Amino acid sequence: SASEHVTIVEMAPRDGLQNESRLVDTDDKIQLVDLLSDCGFERIEVTSFVSPRWVPQMADAPAVMAGIKRRPGIRYAALTPNIRGFEAARAAGVDEVAIFASASESFSQKNINCSIAESIERFRPVAEASVRHGIPMRGYVSCVVECPYEGPIAPDATARVARLLFELGCYEISLGDTIGRGTPEAVDTMLATVLGDIDAAKLAGHFHDTSGRALENIAVGLDRGLRVFDASTGGLGGCPYAPGAAGNVDTLAVNAFLQKRGFSTGLDTSKLDRAAAFARSLRNAT
Ligand code: HMG
Ligand code: MG
Repeated sequence: SASEHVTIVEMAPRDGLQNESRLVDTDDKIQLVDLLSDCGFERIEVTSFVSPRWVPQMADAPAVMAGIKRRPGIRYAALTPNIRGFEAARAAGVDEVAIFASASESFSQKNINCSIAESIERFRPVAEASVRHGIPMRGYVSCVVECPYEGPIAPDATARVARLLFELGCYEISLGDTIGRGTPEAVDTMLATVLGDIDAAKLAGHFHDTSGRALENIAVGLDRGLRVFDASTGGLGGCPYAPGAAGNVDTLAVNAFLQKRGFSTGLDTSKLDRAAAFARSLRNAT
């Protein structure tokens, strides 16, 4: 019988590159997305329509979207922090947008310059526009177990923000261990709490590999019924507003881990290798 499918959502062009201090050429970003489009992903997060003052690396979002070769069957997604970002993303023809909140008040302030409650109000027009224009909207919660400024985050705080995003109409909530400090125990407790409100089929795991525990945390997610995980080819990444955040867990490592456990991902390993080599070549020599 066919093995059970797990979806890996590719993050390198967005979460991967956003943390690079050297501005990567637009053409190189386009080439990275095009290489990733060959690998078999269903969804690729391409860029962010955010303030260029906040994240200069993403200032070329419209040019990247315009330059990529779109492959049928792949959804090309982008982050949109406000209605202005949504309108720009729509004009650029994105297939899917994502709003991003935090379970931690301090991180919300540092990352999007407002409180959690204000962020939800700011997302409301984005949610309305996504329905009006038929553009699916994903939601992220950052700092689901640990915050770089506040330390451990209560599972109830994460569950509350996840629920608010879900009520806004997000088709899926991606739970972010932004700084990769989550232990499998803490991730399990957090997931148990969130699952009290939201089905596993509507949740994704987004693990950074700062402490080398991302795969263990994915295993916890699998045991809890999650079947969507975010990962970054070449292990690129971090968050400019999360000091100490290493890259997202490496797509190749997640793919190998899932295959060993008998899941199918639909990804082509040799093409992934090629994309990973190119992704790593874009990295700062630090
Ligand atoms: P603000 O300064 O409070 O907002 O920023 P503002 O409305 O005062 O705007 C400031 C400037 O940005 C103005 O320009 C606006 O016009 C402009 P100025 O007048 O100074 O020249 N602006 C925009 N420009 C382009 N596109 C826009 C836009 N909006 C305003 N959409 C804001 C608030 C939310 C805009 C800002 O804080 C921001 O852009 N933050 C984004 C931060 C970010 O991208 N962080 C990384 C992504 S989140 C992440 O990595 C976590 C995740 O991976 C999950 C996990 O790991 O946990 C998702
Ligand atoms: Mg992230």
